[in-house]
Amino acid sequence: MYASLKSIGSYVPEKVMSNADFEKIVDTSDEWIVQRTGIKNRRIAAPNQTTSDMGALAAKKAIERSGLDKDDIDLVICATLSPDHLCMPSTACLISDKVGIRDVMAFDVSAACSGFVYILSIAKAFIESGAKKNILLVGAEKISSLVDYTDRGTCILFGDGAGAAIISATEDKNEAIIDVHASADGKYSDLLITPGCGSTYPCSADMMEKKLQYIKMAGNEVFKVAVRTLTRDVVDILKTNEIKSEDVDLFIPHQANLRIIEAVRNKLKFSKEKTVFTVGKYGNTSAASIPMAMSDAYEEGRLKKGDLMLLDTFGGGFTWASALIRFGGN
Ligand code: ACO
Repeated sequence: MYASLKSIGSYVPEKVMSNADFEKIVDTSDEWIVQRTGIKNRRIAAPNQTTSDMGALAAKKAIERSGLDKDDIDLVICATLSPDHLCMPSTACLISDKVGIRDVMAFDVSAACSGFVYILSIAKAFIESGAKKNILLVGAEKISSLVDYTDRGTCILFGDGAGAAIISATEDKNEAIIDVHASADGKYSDLLITPGCGSTYPCSADMMEKKLQYIKMAGNEVFKVAVRTLTRDVVDILKTNEIKSEDVDLFIPHQANLRIIEAVRNKLKFSKEKTVFTVGKYGNTSAASIPMAMSDAYEEGRLKKGDLMLLDTFGGGFTWASALIRFGGN
């Protein structure tokens, strides 16, 4: 039995925040942001809109496109670094409720921007073992709730949104998830971190005054490790599976920074036509970035049944992951 990615859906909030909007709140410019990141706009969730609200809307679209009924889903996994609640209930439980999925296992995975590819690997294992048949995966983020809008080094990078996919059992190898590599190295944990609100610095007035509840990033150092790791990861997964880069139909990298994507794309010699770019319009949406990019490619008619997709991602932890997938949807 193989695991097949049958459908993809996404949701983006209505509100657009442009570089011009950031010029009004921090010392920055459209020129600096575009030159250093390639980002022009990002979407920002409404104050009363939660990560699970967005995740549920993306999930409904993915279920509809799969042709399945919500009652066919037997596992729900959500990847997020901005859950509705810090400890419990999980965002996956809330998404299940909002979609109307009852009495099935539901849990969250914390792997920052690599979260979606991590849960893809978990879904693949559940399906191949025969334990589950139809799994709903969601990557959803309200990162605007974790961003310090006075820190120009981070606030311009992030946006909100959600993407979802249905992974189903199949006997057809030509529509299967071929391989997923996922890994981590905690020695870099301080370079990209939300220090507060956990057991190290529990919620307190002092912690809030020090702004430890927000994302802190040593951008330049993260940048260098990201380019190195993303490139090595792709070389590894292609080599392991004896697949040449020219055989890949669509390269879908994590959308953190256009310069990172371009550095990796040029090293690996993927053409622009074969690469998906959404960072300019959505910014970095962390665990939602890859499924949102896949969904955009699908909606633009760039993804057909049997096409070979290569996913590649990197994030806080550090975590990283890549996947080779033959698309199983229509
Ligand atoms: N506008 C204007 N100037 C700025 C801004 C801004 N928004 N932000 C920083 N600067 C300034 C800095 O203060 C610094 O000024 P100085 O030289 O006077 O000290 C100068 O620009 C250069 O700063 P750097 O941090 O060296 O700039 P860099 O070229 O590295 O770009 C960036 C910063 C865009 C953050 C980049 O490092 C980056 O994209 N890093 C990787 C991000 C990433 O991939 N994250 C991984 C996933 S995220 C996740 O897992 C949640």
